[in-house]
Amino acid sequence: MKSKEKAGKSYNIAVIGGDGTGPEVTAEGVKVLKAAARKFDFSVKFKDYDFGGERYLSTGKIIDDNEVETLKKHDAIYLGAIGHPDVKPGILEKGLLLKLRFALDQYINLRPVKLFPGVETPLKNKGPEDIDYVVVRENSGGAYTGCGGNVMTGTPNEVATQEMIYTRFQVDRCLRYAFDLVRKRHSKKSPWRGLKEEDVKAGKIGQLTLCGKTNVLTYVFGLWERAFHEIAKEYPDVKTDYAHVDATTNPEWFDVIVTENLFGDIITDLGAMTQGGMGVAAGGNINPGGLSMFEPIGGSAPKYTGLNVINPIAAISAGAMMLDTLGETKAAAAIEAAVMSVTQQMKSQAAGKMGFSTTEVGDLVVAALKKQK
Ligand code: IPM
Ligand code: MN
Repeated sequence: MKSKEKAGKSYNIAVIGGDGTGPEVTAEGVKVLKAAARKFDFSVKFKDYDFGGERYLSTGKIIDDNEVETLKKHDAIYLGAIGHPDVKPGILEKGLLLKLRFALDQYINLRPVKLFPGVETPLKNKGPEDIDYVVVRENSGGAYTGCGGNVMTGTPNEVATQEMIYTRFQVDRCLRYAFDLVRKRHSKKSPWRGLKEEDVKAGKIGQLTLCGKTNVLTYVFGLWERAFHEIAKEYPDVKTDYAHVDATTNPEWFDVIVTENLFGDIITDLGAMTQGGMGVAAGGNINPGGLSMFEPIGGSAPKYTGLNVINPIAAISAGAMMLDTLGETKAAAAIEAAVMSVTQQMKSQAAGKMGFSTTEVGDLVVAALKKQK
């Protein structure tokens, strides 16, 4: 059929709504993704998976290797939230979220920290022009590797270790991704606005900041630092910068930050607060050559479950990141623009205080998307 030939690509998305408010926010994301597909002439098919706390409580199963294989048949995974009040902390997080990140080698955790117009930030005198950077969190190593243990447990002499481990291979692939991302964000025509005139004259288009702790954790960050400066030679158009993790205090300093797993975890949750909180912050667990997974980075918010009051903006933005990664860059940018127009109409980004219900926010984004030329 002629019309079919002309139609764009087709994507199969695995949806893991997960726990608490997770399914409510992914439902709004799916609504927006379907609208984007109609507008930009590609097709998306969604398949729901019931992994999460409820299934674990009733069957004892979290996710097994066969189920991971099944997920691999999809083009991307869209995740709501993991965490159930009746399940001991750590079980679902390790058994599902971390298991998928490791099994699918999603070695990048991409977390934009962007203050949308109309969104309140707790940082005094800072606006959208100050808060717009991306954190590239290494997502496969560090303290998350799980190397260590307890001995003489329960005695006064108990010993606990948890090692921060990195291979040069892990560091290199993460750094290269981050350098490439700077190039993706900027060009000679539109360099990063934070650059000084002399940097632009010297041909720089953007900046990559290595975030570490080279003054104390000299082994691990010695490796990161050496690799950073070696790889930087391949990217003469990218300005390099360094910040100790405890000195990443001013958002306007940053364009792209690259850092190890645990530091990235911490600074992105703090960064999320500066962009309006957990209702807004989105992230992608990315395997650049494989299967990636996109999620709002807030939790499952059990106390708001089923009330239609949770903020779906983060999940919708995670959906846009998913399209961007799949190559539907125009549709992704259009969703982001639609989101930015909707956040201006919302009273707050906090659950229950938005001035709209969860489903209404989704509808508003769809309407804004349709209205775009
Ligand atoms: C995150 C979360 C996870 C992490 C937990 C739930 C395992 O905090 O995605 O940031 O530490 O990576
Ligand atoms: Mn976290």
